[in-house]
Amino acid sequence: MSQQRLLDPAEELLREVNFNDIVTMPTLLQQRASLTPLEKAQVGLTVIAIQPKVVIETGVWRGRTTRFLSELMLLNQIPGTIYGFDFPDVIDELYEIDPFFQTTSNVKFVKGSLPGSLGGWLTENPTLMIDFALVDATHSYYAVYEELVRIAPRLCDDGYIFCHDYDLDEKSHIGVAAAIDDFCKKYDFVAMPLHSRPPAPKVDRSLQSALLRRSLKVNWGEKLIHWRADARERYPQMMSFVRKLRGMK
Ligand SMILES: C[S@@+](CC[C@H](N)C(=O)[O-])C[C@H]1O[C@@H](n2cnc3c(N)ncnc32)[C@H](O)[C@@H]1O
Repeated sequence: MSQQRLLDPAEELLREVNFNDIVTMPTLLQQRASLTPLEKAQVGLTVIAIQPKVVIETGVWRGRTTRFLSELMLLNQIPGTIYGFDFPDVIDELYEIDPFFQTTSNVKFVKGSLPGSLGGWLTENPTLMIDFALVDATHSYYAVYEELVRIAPRLCDDGYIFCHDYDLDEKSHIGVAAAIDDFCKKYDFVAMPLHSRPPAPKVDRSLQSALLRRSLKVNWGEKLIHWRADARERYPQMMSFVRKLRGMK
């Protein structure tokens, strides 16, 4: 017979919370080459969870994800800034195409050619740390690797990097996946592949992005403390029996 886990009071309270009462999602504006709705939702939930001060996006194109992030953070009172990197002509065109960017308060664009523009911006802002990075500019091994290498030392310890097009099945994205895997090995990061669209039967093309973070350093002592606490909660009778046995020694 499976034993039902007891909920602590905080967990019980959380179960009563309605998602819409704690998170407000903006309207999704889609565009070819932009993150899919599911990817935007995953990015949005991560941003809500970590409440970032500094977000960067390499490759903004028509600003569909930039605007989603901007509105999401404003709607949910997250007082961070989004720094978007792209070529000067793309940014100039974006201001004309979408007047939203002429007035929104939490987006700043950095014009230039990556990865140099990112390196220059980091040098000009030596104390600034990145909470959340979205990598989505040139889809080549060199470009992705060079951006990740620049981001890593300035990523907060509990920061995340969302990499678009971590796609092992698409020939034109093979360099992206290889760059991410090599970067993770060398800089001790872990990559979690993410669904870009709901899985469909017989079509294994749904995993097309990845969320990266530093691998957690948990030592054996800490693991043991966690297991003991977990066992106490799950098997209280067995644990009190163990304590009695110890007392008899
Ligand atoms: C796939 S689009 C970005 C889509 C956007 N992230 C979204 O979700 O809506 C790629 C963008 O990266 C930009 N880009 C590509 N290579 C670049 C480079 N070397 N320097 C600056 N921008 C670059 C392109 O101009 C283009 O706007």
